[in-house]
Amino acid sequence: DVESIQKNGKLVLGTSADFPPFEWIVMKDGKEEIVGVDIELAQKIADELGVELEVRNMGFDTLIQSVKTGRIDIALAGMNQSEERAKQIDFSTPYHKGESYILVAKDNADSVQTVEDLEGLK
Ligand code: ARG
Repeated sequence: DVESIQKNGKLVLGTSADFPPFEWIVMKDGKEEIVGVDIELAQKIADELGVELEVRNMGFDTLIQSVKTGRIDIALAGMNQSEERAKQIDFSTPYHKGESYILVAKDNADSVQTVEDLEGLK
C-alpha cells in the first residue's frame, strides 16, 4: 500500500521492456536504460508519492504474479484489461486507448493502398 511504499522510499515498477513506445531499452553511456511512456507515467506517480522509482524488467507473463505476491508494487506494460487478468489483480482506469493511423499525402492517397506501394514514394 501507499504507506509501505512511502516507508520504503521507493515505488517498485515491474515492466517488460520489449514493447515500444510503452517501454523499451536504450543504451545510455554504455548502460542499459528502460524508457517509454509507461516509465514516464510511473515516474510521475513516484514523484507524487515523494519516492524514488525503481524499474524492474521481467517477462510479461510474470507481471501479474509479481503484483500478486508483492514483488513489485505496480506493473505498467501496455497491458490490456481482460476478464481472466481482472480475476487476479486490480486494473486502474485506462490511461491509453489506441487508435492510430498512417498518414500519406493527399496526392498519394490513391496510389498507396498496400505496404509495397510505399516503395520509392517521395
Ligand atoms: N497489449 C497486449 C496485452 O495486454 C500486449 C502487451 C505486451 N506488453 C509488453 N510490455 N511486452 O497483452
